[in-house]
Amino acid sequence: MIDFDKVQPRTGTNSVKWDAIQEMYHREGLLPLWVADMDFLAPEAVTNALQDAVAKGIYGYSIFPDSLYSAIIDWQQTRHGFSLEKEAILFNSGVVPSLALALQSYTAENDAILIHDPVYHPFADVIKRNNRRLVRAPLLEKAGHFEMDFAAMEQAIVENNIKLFILCNPHNPGGRVWTKEELTTIGLLCQKHHVFVVSDEIHQDIVFAPHRFTSFQTVDPSFTAFSIVLTSATKTFNLAGIKNSMVFIKDPALRKRFVAAQERNVQGEINTFGTVATEAAYREGAPWLEALLPYLSDNAAFIQSFLQTHMPNVRVQMPEGTYLMWLDFSAYGLSDQQLQRILINEAHVVLNQGTIFGPHGSQHMRLNFACSRSILEKVLHQIAEAFETIDRKK
Ligand SMILES: Cc1ncc(COP(=O)(O)O)c(C=O)c1O
Repeated sequence: MIDFDKVQPRTGTNSVKWDAIQEMYHREGLLPLWVADMDFLAPEAVTNALQDAVAKGIYGYSIFPDSLYSAIIDWQQTRHGFSLEKEAILFNSGVVPSLALALQSYTAENDAILIHDPVYHPFADVIKRNNRRLVRAPLLEKAGHFEMDFAAMEQAIVENNIKLFILCNPHNPGGRVWTKEELTTIGLLCQKHHVFVVSDEIHQDIVFAPHRFTSFQTVDPSFTAFSIVLTSATKTFNLAGIKNSMVFIKDPALRKRFVAAQERNVQGEINTFGTVATEAAYREGAPWLEALLPYLSDNAAFIQSFLQTHMPNVRVQMPEGTYLMWLDFSAYGLSDQQLQRILINEAHVVLNQGTIFGPHGSQHMRLNFACSRSILEKVLHQIAEAFETIDRKK
């Protein structure tokens, strides 16, 4: 079993998280808790399956084997109570590429697309790059977590003639795992106003008890007529580089439109090593995931307690899922530039700036806590030290 405490050296591995920052910030020695991959080794079963595939020595075109479909079907059924037929499963080279195809399949140029504010930033990028109109509905921060503002969403839908809503469940960057009740309300709202729903469920397996993940398509069978689900094994098992994902489309007519967009973009084939890794992860990765989840939730608790003691001015949203934490620095009254400057130049740590997730992310930072405890401790101490003088002045 993986020792999550062991620091795995990643510098010099062409890692975006560890290596790209030298060029971005022109500094050595920064500690990166930003882009969403983990600093942990993937499950051994995945590495073994990839090594077996490499050992064969022939890397020609491949089909999607039945064993891959059944691994996905079993995983969705046993972990999420989501029943899928083989026909409903399509493959693609990533959730973000699938978002682009979904926009092309179910909307036209200049159509208005709704997302939350804040939310995973490529949603906005994909909408703009596909010449659709971006409309954001702010989330409400209540009792230390995000809630959907259904009234504001309905108003935005009606006023802008919204055609499609991209849901992020579990929510990045806030870590909310939307409840069945919340999903029912939003589903009914979208049904009422003929809004198509694309549900990004890539973080579905990183959920901390007692919270439970609910797929949008299990909420009500009628929701499958106006929605698709995008997911992947890549977040769960730390495989982001394999560029492999699934699209679940139960409705045959909707599936046909998505396949047509895939063909138009020549996107029907994906990397063989990715499918090998996905199958091995779903078949044999569960014990690894069961060991990972408590490690991650202890990391989250560690951050909360550290900040309460050393930086009580930073407000924390405790994540219900994901390995991402949304930190509110607004009590310091700093501009976004000042906040970033202190973190980079004085604390020597890289987090994600809140503003990339939408205007409501101002004065916030997203911290990726999927790292060994010793790195997390180091990062937090460096941040606390950098803010000590500001805290003293308060
Ligand atoms: C909500 C969400 N969707 C999609 C992705 C990326 O998916 P992919 O690498 O399959 O495009 C991420 C990565 O952080 C994410 O957080």
